[in-house]
Amino acid sequence: MTDYDPQKDAHDSYYAAIEAKRGRGDAVIRREVQIGDCRLILGDCLEVLPLLEREARFARAIALSKAAGEPWAGSGSNRRCEWIRKAMAIPVFDAVVTDPPYGIGESAAKNNRRGLLAKPKDYGSDDWDQAPADPKVIAWMRENSDWQIIFGGNYFDLPPTSCWLVWDKKVNGDFADCELAWTNLKKAVRRIEWMWNGMLRKGNEERFHLTQKPLGVMEWCLGHLPASVGIVCDPYAGSGTTGVACVKRGLQFIGIERETHHFETMVKRISAATEAPDMFIEPRAPEPKQEALL
Ligand SMILES: C[S@@+](CC[C@H](N)C(=O)[O-])C[C@H]1O[C@@H](n2cnc3c(N)ncnc32)[C@H](O)[C@@H]1O
Repeated sequence: MTDYDPQKDAHDSYYAAIEAKRGRGDAVIRREVQIGDCRLILGDCLEVLPLLEREARFARAIALSKAAGEPWAGSGSNRRCEWIRKAMAIPVFDAVVTDPPYGIGESAAKNNRRGLLAKPKDYGSDDWDQAPADPKVIAWMRENSDWQIIFGGNYFDLPPTSCWLVWDKKVNGDFADCELAWTNLKKAVRRIEWMWNGMLRKGNEERFHLTQKPLGVMEWCLGHLPASVGIVCDPYAGSGTTGVACVKRGLQFIGIERETHHFETMVKRISAATEAPDMFIEPRAPEPKQEALL
């Protein structure tokens, strides 16, 4: 008798599709747009992240060799290996702040429910939440960045932590009261109240994505990162809310999104945020320092 494991089967067919795509020589990065300090990539993060990793390691190895007064081109292969080995010790991103698919069919379910209450808006493809984020991507994020804030962390296999970030949505009805972001921050649990109850939304923010996070909540999340963080990646960027929050906080951003419709929304939102004449970049408070006792 055959044992079916829907989650494993979904991931296996996904890997098979990626292999077939590679076999056809399809480009991993389908489109790329740079807006100010934001690099926006249309592609599948499972394929794009290793590419960004190779690119970052190589650039850093060259920078390290130059800083030591050894031009890369003039170094022998042993020395180059040495620089690459040193570059491997530096994380690819300072932080990953993301909101991956949880695999609970949230996108399609919300679309169906909405149809009963209001004329449904076209939020693009709604089948991306049928499988949870790939465990390989979750592992990659943890290995290749100093800090992680991962929404839906309660759906993934992540270690115990002192610091969950809790977004209390002030909802009623059958929706969850709160959403939880797992973090590796060395802090206590923190909570924000931000109403997001169907059409009742704090700040009346425009909705572009079915599972869009409020900008204020993403800015609050970024505010918990150490002041040393300069570059943030969101591999499941959706309509780019993390990116807009990064622009507002003066952080560099790399956003990856697989669906063209959402990618285009992200490009528009980040262009608008970058060009906003009244844009106010909030300086981040310095990290408290532990003073020596003696
Ligand atoms: C929960 S939504 C993110 C919503 C986002 N926080 C916002 O405010 O708009 C997850 C997004 O990940 C995208 N996605 C799913 N799998 C992906 C993959 N393998 N690579 C890149 N993007 C992916 C989906 O298309 C979806 O837009």
